[in-house]
Amino acid sequence: METPIAQKIAERILKEGPITFAEFMKMALYEPGLGYYMQPETEIGKAGDFYTSPHLHPVFGQMIAKQLEEMWLLLGKGPMTAIEQGPGKGFLAKDILDYLKDKKEELYEAITYQMIELNPALKGFQKNLLSGHQEKVRWRERLSGERVGKGVLLANELLDAFPVHLVQMIKGSLMEVNVGVFDEEKGFYEALAPLSEAEIGEYIKEFAPEGRLPEGYRTEVDLDMRLWLQEAGAVFNEGFFLLIIDYGYPAWDYYGPERNRGTLLCYQRHRVIENPYQDPGRMDMTAHVNFSALARWGEREGFKCAGFCPQGTYLVSLGMEDVLEDLGQEDILKVKGLLLPGTMGQTHKVMAMYKGPGELPKLRGFQMRNQCRVL
Ligand SMILES: C[S@@+](CC[C@H](N)C(=O)[O-])C[C@H]1O[C@@H](n2cnc3c(N)ncnc32)[C@H](O)[C@@H]1O
Repeated sequence: METPIAQKIAERILKEGPITFAEFMKMALYEPGLGYYMQPETEIGKAGDFYTSPHLHPVFGQMIAKQLEEMWLLLGKGPMTAIEQGPGKGFLAKDILDYLKDKKEELYEAITYQMIELNPALKGFQKNLLSGHQEKVRWRERLSGERVGKGVLLANELLDAFPVHLVQMIKGSLMEVNVGVFDEEKGFYEALAPLSEAEIGEYIKEFAPEGRLPEGYRTEVDLDMRLWLQEAGAVFNEGFFLLIIDYGYPAWDYYGPERNRGTLLCYQRHRVIENPYQDPGRMDMTAHVNFSALARWGEREGFKCAGFCPQGTYLVSLGMEDVLEDLGQEDILKVKGLLLPGTMGQTHKVMAMYKGPGELPKLRGFQMRNQCRVL
């Protein structure tokens, strides 16, 4: 076993027997001090393994700042809390707060920005980066717990990093992929076992076309998303929005024949690695988001879908005039990577959900296209 986390997982399996893939992924990403996201040297962007929109250009954060302003106005102004979960290096928070300080003073006064970061080293980096906004920013330990008034919960590429169960249809039965270990030399193997939780079967019944997967089809099931929505639904005392940006599909697209091996991928130095057992702890592991599950589970927690569309359509709809004003050629090229088909403009989707009093608010970012109804 090459990495300390691979060794730790192997020791656990040798002691307890095979574990679910979700358990394997949870340890590979989040084991304190050893998991991919929990190490002191975790990097995102050029020097890391993958890019996210805030690493491409500050325009992204400036646009999200405009979104926060619209939501603040719809919520009736006054003090507002923005909570960002999984902020990574903290660039999104910085770009939002810089923009508000410079252009939207009243909202800058009204806003408190809370960050939820699991990695102590990243938290230190964020504190440094955001030192100019010290009086606006706080870190909270977790989503559950302390309640706040009205506001917005931001999740940019958070949900794709949740551990997922892996399932496969074998001879008409839905089986779960478990991970075993031959010995510390030869590495991990996969074994098919009955489902570890009945909810996994219910999930496939609800979201796969006609309630079942074709023979041999393999895919992921993210049950943590449901818990996350339950927690999210209980954080705010007054009206609030969820703003979720991630790659993924509605269920009718998610389970297409072209994805019969699922959407689970690993990233290392900007290269895709398909084998999740190759280098645990040294590569990102991620699965696409099932936005239908998000919308339907959200509804059960009292949320209403306020908008769903590709990131590019959303950003253009939101109005980019004032943030594009002073950009040069090189910047424009980067911004295209946030907008155009074939880039994050298409792979990434934006979903807004609302929970609170009154009518479902209409948001500008979804005026050109809103696919809530086809989820
Ligand atoms: C793909 S990265 C995205 C980082 C950042 N949002 C960005 O766009 O650059 C996913 C992040 O979510 C964090 N994360 C996952 N589950 C979390 C949780 N329950 N609470 C807080 N952060 C979490 C991971 O630690 C990781 O930093």
